[in-house]
Amino acid sequence: MILDGRKISEQIIADLAVRVAAMTADGTRPPHLVAVLVGNEGASETYVAAKMRACERCGFTSTTLRLDVDVTEEHLLQLIESLNSDTAVDGLIVQLPLPPHIDEHHVIAAIDPDKDVDGFHPTNVGRLSIGVPGFVGATPKGIMTLIEHYGIATDGHHAVVVGRSNIVGRPVATLLSLKAAPGNCTVTLCHSGTPDLARFTREADILVTAVGNPGFITADMVKPGAVVFDVGITRVPDPTSRTGYRLRGDVDYDAVEPMCAAITPVPGGVGPMTIATLMQNTLQAYLRRGAVECNETPDG
Ligand code: GUN
Repeated sequence: MILDGRKISEQIIADLAVRVAAMTADGTRPPHLVAVLVGNEGASETYVAAKMRACERCGFTSTTLRLDVDVTEEHLLQLIESLNSDTAVDGLIVQLPLPPHIDEHHVIAAIDPDKDVDGFHPTNVGRLSIGVPGFVGATPKGIMTLIEHYGIATDGHHAVVVGRSNIVGRPVATLLSLKAAPGNCTVTLCHSGTPDLARFTREADILVTAVGNPGFITADMVKPGAVVFDVGITRVPDPTSRTGYRLRGDVDYDAVEPMCAAITPVPGGVGPMTIATLMQNTLQAYLRRGAVECNETPDG
């Protein structure tokens, strides 16, 4: 079975658009997402543009703030501070990666956790790790949404995650291990320091790979009947394509698809889900802030 992230994300966005239209029919302002983009790296440009397009489709307003690649960390932190205190901003993301002279951790820590719709702030990471409500990152949330939507069994199953990044691997491993439904997996988190990786991946009922190495997961590394989430999305040169490249996942799709129970394609699998879940998080931020503002603004 192919896990059709494109279709599910379209449904989520259509649902959000209906809800937002109803909420704003009386002139109430819609949710507003701000993306900060430093430099003009091709993939980041594409991702931010896709996020802004999705905002439009949901009926949100959005702003992309572009900063020069050699902007100082201090300037970026000041900008974040002003967006934190701007009541017209509900969600705030800083597209990663940042240039090497800027400390990503300083930048993430500067974002108001209540506007951190990427779920990157230590407060939200902490909330996730102890299983209390907070913002869950778009990619891990997208994977859990696919699991839920397709009714994939997780309880008591062995999930193997390849890649320990803060954006994908680590939070996915946390989510799958939580005492929740979906969840309650036994989780193994593998990474570049794991010897004999295939020994672990072959044991996976659920395999999540977020490595960024096209074709890295071959058929002999996958248990027949496993469910495979391919988060890798790498541009490989392709002169026959209009863009000059095509996107490839971590998994040798043609060989693995026939022998697994379900798999996410690249493109069209996890990627579109991340956009839809970011939109859900932005609405969540807006609704939470709305409640606060109402409480704080009595008549007069
Ligand atoms: N770079 C790669 N993935 C992401 C993401 O989900 N959010 C941000 N801000 N940057 C990214």
